[in-house]
Amino acid sequence: MLPPYKTKMVEAVKTLTKKERIRKIRKAGYNLFFLKSEDVAVDLLTDSGTGAMSQEQWAALMRADESYAGSSSFLRLEKTIQKILGFPFVIPAHQGRGAESVFNKILVKAGDIITGNSPFDTTRAHIENRGGKIIDCTCKDAFSSKNLFEFKGNVDLKKLEKTLKRYRNKIAYVLLTITCNSVGGQPVSLENIKAVSKLCRQYKTPLFFDIARFAENSYFIKERKRKYKNWPIKEIVKETMKCADGVLMSAKKDALANMGGFIAVRNKELYEKLAPQAILMEGFLNYGGMSGRDMETVAQGLYEGIDENYLRYRTEQTKYLGESLHALGAPVIRPIGGHAVYVIADKFLPHIAWDKFPAHALAIALYIEGGIRGVEIGSIMEGRDPQTGENRKARQEFLRLAIPRRVYTKEHLDYVIEIFKTLINNKNKIRGVKFKYESPILRHFSSRFSLI
Ligand code: F0G
Repeated sequence: MLPPYKTKMVEAVKTLTKKERIRKIRKAGYNLFFLKSEDVAVDLLTDSGTGAMSQEQWAALMRADESYAGSSSFLRLEKTIQKILGFPFVIPAHQGRGAESVFNKILVKAGDIITGNSPFDTTRAHIENRGGKIIDCTCKDAFSSKNLFEFKGNVDLKKLEKTLKRYRNKIAYVLLTITCNSVGGQPVSLENIKAVSKLCRQYKTPLFFDIARFAENSYFIKERKRKYKNWPIKEIVKETMKCADGVLMSAKKDALANMGGFIAVRNKELYEKLAPQAILMEGFLNYGGMSGRDMETVAQGLYEGIDENYLRYRTEQTKYLGESLHALGAPVIRPIGGHAVYVIADKFLPHIAWDKFPAHALAIALYIEGGIRGVEIGSIMEGRDPQTGENRKARQEFLRLAIPRRVYTKEHLDYVIEIFKTLINNKNKIRGVKFKYESPILRHFSSRFSLI
């Protein structure tokens, strides 16, 4: 497929020898977050803030207004959000978790319940930090590797209704994460979104979306549902957003920016509750932790992120990597999601028990073999139960290979596929890991490990 962009600026990639990589990862306490990025050949750690900006974004950045109040860059961002997403009230934040922090401080109190599909780990941490409890109503199809259901991010509507009924006065809000990162970057169908919205109205519960990857979700709706085949992406986005009372956005993903985020809501009273908290935590309402430059790149990126040609190429790239690994015999979540390929590490390495963290073991092996950096989404990331202090066993142990936007070529992906071939042939040599130092919160970021 012809890429819908070409390269104007390049960044050198250094390659180390295997021996050097063994030394680097040992020095990093076997935590890939502690590696220097210059020691990584293909960086698939995250698709967050790692995309390449367009010449239009760089041009927009030059005309940014860095005024503290009344910045024209904020007004441009606000107008863009109103136009593309349809929410009148916009609160800027420095990134997704900044928005989550402000939002949950106002909406969640101890003992509250939040339900929906699986929230991302920072979202979960913010909710639990406020004393809230999450009831995950993701559909069962999401957890079967044989099942090829095309909308594995969907909510199990029966379970959701049961939850809404049972905890009637305890539910703070329903949250849909689109696409759903925690179950493989899988989309939520528009039918499911509408049905969830109907249930929320019926039970008088507000519905919010985590829209970090809303454009990829909209593209999948168009590609996978006949009914929407001829709909422009921007119309699918509108139809989706109509169902929500508000959204939380990390602009580092589908807004194609390196930094930024926001909350956008429909209701003025809610906005007025959130605004003072936002000023306290993130900064004045016309920048919220972003510079004028950031706001310009987000505003321009929101338009580029919903371009259909871009979205087709992006999702095809992810599919190419995923289907190629599958063809080699590596177990991966299928259909392939939007932003990343998820290797099912507990199936790939059945000789490593869940509490010896097979996905993290695979991540280390992938770095040593080829200088490729992925990330564990499994029992290390799950953390400990806040009540019992026990390790939480993830439903599955994933190694996520996230693809930065507009950064890597097919040759980079072919290289990853080659390295996987070697790993498959030597997988019995891969060893589990244990904690050497365990960080008390969001432990995957800053713990240290040793090989068993
Ligand atoms: N929501 C989702 C669905 C996310 O994937 C992320 C971040 C956030 C919220 C938080 O946003 O990073 O701007 O504070 N995901 C990144 C990832 C870190 O690698 O998947 P943030």
